[in-house]
Amino acid sequence: MKTIDELLAEGVTGKRVFVRADLNVPLSGTTITDDGRIRAVRPTVEKLAAAGARVIVASHLGRPKGAPDPAFSLAPAAARLGELIGADVAFATDTVGESARATVAALTDGKVAVIENLRFNPGETSKDDAERGAFADRLAELADVYVGDGFGAVHRKHASVFDLPARLPHAAGDLIATEVGVLKKLTENVERPYAVVLGGSKVSDKLGVIDHLLERADRILIGGGMAYTFLKAQGHEVGSSLLQEDQIPAVLEYLERAEAKGVEFVLPVDVVVSEQFPDLRTKAPTEHRTVPADAIPAGFMGLDNGPETNKLYASKLADAVTVFWNGPMGVFEHPDYTEGTRAVAQALVNSSGFSVVGGGDSAAAVRILGFDENAFGHISTGGGASLEYLEGKTLPGLAALED
Ligand code: 3PG
Repeated sequence: MKTIDELLAEGVTGKRVFVRADLNVPLSGTTITDDGRIRAVRPTVEKLAAAGARVIVASHLGRPKGAPDPAFSLAPAAARLGELIGADVAFATDTVGESARATVAALTDGKVAVIENLRFNPGETSKDDAERGAFADRLAELADVYVGDGFGAVHRKHASVFDLPARLPHAAGDLIATEVGVLKKLTENVERPYAVVLGGSKVSDKLGVIDHLLERADRILIGGGMAYTFLKAQGHEVGSSLLQEDQIPAVLEYLERAEAKGVEFVLPVDVVVSEQFPDLRTKAPTEHRTVPADAIPAGFMGLDNGPETNKLYASKLADAVTVFWNGPMGVFEHPDYTEGTRAVAQALVNSSGFSVVGGGDSAAAVRILGFDENAFGHISTGGGASLEYLEGKTLPGLAALED
């Protein structure tokens, strides 16, 4: 993979450089609630601009349906990028149309523009190679060079991630280089004990990584919505908690394999339950209580790890030398259900081991809960991307930058 410094050494002054970033930030209306991903791509943008490139930053945001949708506009992200780099950032209101062409044509050396959400064009995410290729052809017309720096999207075989680099001279940005360097530490010669904390709502999203980690990790701690499928698989009633019944056979198989391999699988021993899912908009207080994980009453749903679980998980992380964490332990967006996620974050902060926080939600959680980012070994900008890397899969966006 060519590095950005090698690219700069070849000279980029006056060249139009297309930076595929991941500016997929959480929004409340038009307010960005966590700008971590924009800050993460800033060094690459600044380096290119300082070298005199005409920088075109492109990204997706959310999952619009292949057509313009104002709710998914990148305009707030473009404005935030401008604030961060302390310079005007032009904004094109389309992806490859008149606005994009005019905006790029008006760029002068060292200036930066953002084009509108790539997923407003159906070609971006199309499964059809020809349709994706046609969109990539049009994107290629905008630029002379491609820099891949959207680590959060490298697991997507999308036009701007996979097809476009094949059409332009290309290099990897600093963010991708850092992310890949960190993930290598979690896959090659890992320092032990190696503990993995997995949360989030769906077991099905994590099956591949659990399968892979059963061969590598010493401890796997489970929390969040996915824990209830594990508890159910162990024969416990889980009330109205999130449940993926169809995943129970896979989960049982993992529990058996873990035992056979001596991998410690740790599940919540108590959970915070409520009869209703909390209102995340008003954040109104809810009725809730803590119950043993094997005694969730009918009609109640688990929404966070309980205090005994928090102590247990802290003890399992205390002596870990390497930790990977993906997925919140509960509905941390509501103040009644932050403690499980906070406890894991605190355990990582207290630990002297190397900790990696992977993923959109868990990365946003540590910042929203007020933790100092520097207290962690690394906070990844990629959720699905880091999981798929750990699964050992070939990631299209990295493969495309290889040659
Ligand atoms: C993410 O948030 O994980 C990345 O931005 C990729 O988004 P996607 O899952 O919608 O492709």
